[in-house]
Amino acid sequence: MHGFFITGTDTGVGKTAVTAGLAANLKQRGLNVGVMKPLQTGSGETAQGRVSVDAFFAMQVAGIADPMDIVSPYRLEPPLAPRIAAEITGATIEMDKISRAYRELRERHDFMLVEGAGGIMVPIIGRYLMADLAKLLGLPVLIVARPGLGTVNHTLLTVEYAKARGLQVAGIIINGFKQSEAGLAEKTNLGLIEELSGVPVVGIISYDADIDVDTYNPGCITKLAKEGIVWEKLCLPAS
Ligand SMILES: Nc1ncnc2c1ncn2[C@@H]1O[C@H](COP(=O)(O)OP(=O)(O)OP(=O)(O)O)[C@@H](O)[C@H]1O
Ligand SMILES: [Mg+2]
Repeated sequence: MHGFFITGTDTGVGKTAVTAGLAANLKQRGLNVGVMKPLQTGSGETAQGRVSVDAFFAMQVAGIADPMDIVSPYRLEPPLAPRIAAEITGATIEMDKISRAYRELRERHDFMLVEGAGGIMVPIIGRYLMADLAKLLGLPVLIVARPGLGTVNHTLLTVEYAKARGLQVAGIIINGFKQSEAGLAEKTNLGLIEELSGVPVVGIISYDADIDVDTYNPGCITKLAKEGIVWEKLCLPAS
């Protein structure tokens, strides 16, 4: 086991927040962890050039320093699925380039957290999807899901598809849980998801209004991940 591919039931579910929280805690636990966002879309020009907001956020939260060109080899401007963002901008996505960057990061780190873009069936090139990338990198997937109504369906679909593609599903992390507002859906979802998917919910991360990836505000993500993730349920290498 040398890492996780972090996917989600949708875009905006908190993959980056969870990746950052995981990375920071794994580092605190003595693991030499790296992060990667192979395909970043919606990537605007900044004073530092075109950076991957997601990778930058996770690296800042966890205190990781790697060159942006290997952490995020493709940074495309349109906020769309990578395939369409590449087609619009005339960029050619080469999976070899992503593999090479990943190998370089593996030489620098013992454990990798690789964040996909959007959900597991988001297209990269032609019919090559995010699931194919997880497979290419040889990583089990962690699925980030919302807590509320609708998440049972989205999570089970993601688990079933990942399994059908031969991927190992390491766990599900519920992100943005509001204890004080949890209704019947939030309270019954977890058991239902675990029972029907056969995959453990390995963490429940609380809602924190201060977390904002776009403005690099980590809020309490490191603390919330520390408290919310059931670390014994995550299959991790000994540090
Ligand atoms: N635990 C949380 N509590 C409150 N808000 C959160 C939490 N996690 C994420 N958010 C909010 O949701 C936004 C989107 O989260 P995030 O960028 O992590 O999603 P994502 O799945 O990585 O999205 P993308 O598909 O664009 O990569 C964050 O900027 C933040 O505002
Ligand atoms: Mg993200």
